[in-house]
Amino acid sequence: MKLIKEWEGMAVHFMNLFKNAVEISKRICEQRLKEGDIAIDCTMGNDTVFLCSLIGEDGKVYAFDIQESAVFNTRQNLLQYGYLERAELILDGHQNIDKYVQEEVQLILFNLGYLPKGNHDITTKKDTTIEAVEKCLNILKLKGVILLVIYPGHLSGSEEKEALENFTSKLNQKKFTVTKLSFLNQINHPSELICIEKVC
Ligand SMILES: C[S@@+](CC[C@H](N)C(=O)[O-])C[C@H]1O[C@@H](n2cnc3c(N)ncnc32)[C@H](O)[C@@H]1O
Repeated sequence: MKLIKEWEGMAVHFMNLFKNAVEISKRICEQRLKEGDIAIDCTMGNDTVFLCSLIGEDGKVYAFDIQESAVFNTRQNLLQYGYLERAELILDGHQNIDKYVQEEVQLILFNLGYLPKGNHDITTKKDTTIEAVEKCLNILKLKGVILLVIYPGHLSGSEEKEALENFTSKLNQKKFTVTKLSFLNQINHPSELICIEKVC
């Protein structure tokens, strides 16, 4: 685990910090997660392995996906890194998160959309995403964060962007700080990041 962290540290040092929304979300994960923390990956995959590297042996990552292949591949990756014990892989939609997570968590990551090399019809959708985010607000620790990586370049993604901006901009500012990071000079509808931090 130490090796992975050191390697990632070097990679960060040499790369463009603002490359895309995923990379920025990862830097926030590194900043906010420590060993022993509980995190949720709302769309499992490589991110699950990354989160497991940050929460250590005493932490836990709940990870959701609706595709059996995502669960299978994530399990294989976790096995390879020796992280299987740190994760609970759940084959269900993140909108059902309340059925599986009954504890407060430090960080919740949504890497929305579809798998680039997978079936593009199997994508996250605004109604279930909003339902999941609403439920996530109830289990967020004080100073905990929800990170939403959005891809507005496809129809479902642009609907999610609109719905999420609408929903999060109405959150009570005494309880949550909401920020949005967008790329102003990139072509083709670049990814965006919405961050929600529980402040009270
Ligand atoms: C951008 S990909 C996730 C990438 C992954 N986080 C990684 O690191 O490789 C989006 C994923 O969301 C999944 N998905 C779609 N709707 C979902 C839902 N309601 N709940 C959980 N996962 C969902 C898709 O199956 C797809 O695997």
